[in-house]
Amino acid sequence: MNEKKKEETYGRIIPPIVEMIKDEKDLITAMSTISCELYHAFEHWNWVGFYRRVDERTLKVGPYQGGHGCLTIDVDRGVCGACVREKSILMISDVSKVESHIACSPETKSEMVLPIIGNMGTVLAVFDLDSTEIGAFDATDKEFLSGLVDWIRPLYDQFPGRFLEVGQSGKGSNFAI
Ligand code: SME
Repeated sequence: MNEKKKEETYGRIIPPIVEMIKDEKDLITAMSTISCELYHAFEHWNWVGFYRRVDERTLKVGPYQGGHGCLTIDVDRGVCGACVREKSILMISDVSKVESHIACSPETKSEMVLPIIGNMGTVLAVFDLDSTEIGAFDATDKEFLSGLVDWIRPLYDQFPGRFLEVGQSGKGSNFAI
């Protein structure tokens, strides 16, 4: 997709998404809405969704659109696991060059992952996008998708007992939804 069309698409789709989720209090509702609206806006994306951190070592698939998504990912594995360990946005322009990549679909050529990080620095979820085009993700995607993550993050603060981060419980357990 060329850059101009990408920016136009984000410019058209982000305002209504924000309008829909800005007063939303339910995390699953917000994640589902974002996945659906983005997936249908970009033809070259074949998977858009979330992996939820359910314990120290484990990501479980959350709301998503697209083909089959692996149900469970250990944080030692995959691009999603790397996102948790590195606590940073990763853009993989050619997944065939990344040995640790977990191929949920042979059609996926590039991938971007964004961490959702809690107030104490724990990665609580990973926002994952896959494309059928090599090199599909760039600074434009980073700018707009980070903005959406910023809308999701505060939803975790509404349920402090439900989304404990490491250290908050006093027992070292945390996360789950
Ligand atoms: N490719 C991911 C796995 C999830 S699917 O893309 C939906 C990874 O390597 O972690």
